[in-house]
Amino acid sequence: MNQEAIVTIEVSLGERSYAVVVGRGLFEYVDQYISSRYEKVAVITQEEIPWSLQLSVDSEVFTVPKDERAKSLRVVDEVSSKLALFGLKRNHLIVALGGGVVTDLGGFVASTYYRGTDYINVATTLLGMVDAAVGGKTAVNLRQGKNLVGSFWQPKAVFCDLNTLETLPENQKRSGLGEMAKYSFISHDTLEGMSLLEQVARCVEIKAEYVASDEREGGRRALLNYGHTLGHAVEAQGFERSLGEQLTHGEAVAVGIYFAGKLAFKMGRIDEARLDEHRKVLHSYGLNHRLPSWADKDSLLEYMKRDKKSMGTLTFVLDGRDGLEVVRDVEESMVKDVIHEL
Ligand SMILES: NC(=O)c1ccc[n+]([C@@H]2O[C@H](COP(=O)([O-])OP(=O)(O)OC[C@H]3O[C@@H](n4cnc5c(N)ncnc54)[C@H](O)[C@@H]3O)[C@@H](O)[C@H]2O)c1
Repeated sequence: MNQEAIVTIEVSLGERSYAVVVGRGLFEYVDQYISSRYEKVAVITQEEIPWSLQLSVDSEVFTVPKDERAKSLRVVDEVSSKLALFGLKRNHLIVALGGGVVTDLGGFVASTYYRGTDYINVATTLLGMVDAAVGGKTAVNLRQGKNLVGSFWQPKAVFCDLNTLETLPENQKRSGLGEMAKYSFISHDTLEGMSLLEQVARCVEIKAEYVASDEREGGRRALLNYGHTLGHAVEAQGFERSLGEQLTHGEAVAVGIYFAGKLAFKMGRIDEARLDEHRKVLHSYGLNHRLPSWADKDSLLEYMKRDKKSMGTLTFVLDGRDGLEVVRDVEESMVKDVIHEL
């Protein structure tokens, strides 16, 4: 293992602090971490993920469905029952090996199993590495909406092995790039010219800093949702389309970032040069900033009004002279105009 190619970032949360390890060829290291601390391990993953851990302790692999269907209370019930049959106890470990779906589900199962069991995330998607696996937000979906049942339950460690990205489909890579682009606006620094390892580590560092200062998203952690209000609306509309037309989460966030830039410009919060920077940054990641042609502009507005973070008014994270902030009660006509200009 090349030790120089490993970067460790701490998420500082007092006695719940943990390390996020970013590098290549980390699986051997994951085994060392586990075997020095735990006697029995349950690995939650998906069949489609062509990566597995060779563990030197008693372990079993539990597979869950490949998409959002895995994030359901039914799957929580099924997996938890299997863990009990396997004999997993509170002093044992759950490993979530996968993208955001697996780490959201695995983290939620861990938070309730035996009223709270240790877990670690081994992220295998770019989006998982720079976002979902870090920060302890776990959740499953209800028919009434995404991530409606969940918990804040921090992992004991997170491992981001960049080698796993070699098998990731292109659209899933772009999904991660959408979230990476977001960090450029949050931190006001550019990731351009950095290696992939440096970029992932920098994004994790920014996320870790926000999580450490606002673990339960009572304030500034909400800024990590830049581009997400319109992004979620576009992503949700895509679910009604054929698979080939749908946008991944990060692709939809990219459109949402440009929309947020345009809205901030229209409100006089940023100048044209800063708006242009939004477009340039997105393009530097190979991301499209325009609404897909199938988007239904009127229902996007309705969806955004129902956004669970909006609290009944049109609320956005917007750029401004002092950086990003949450802006409430944005005029509906202005939002409508910007959607139509996109
Ligand atoms: N908890 C949080 O803070 C947070 C943040 C952002 C997103 N999320 C959640 O994350 C989920 C999306 O996660 P995602 O974008 O990682 O998608 P995902 O977990 O659905 O993975 C995408 C697809 O890639 C496959 N895959 C995963 N790793 C692979 C690999 N290395 N090689 C080949 N295929 C692989 C998966 O099986 C899946 O089909 C959403 O449910 C979202 O709500 C959570």
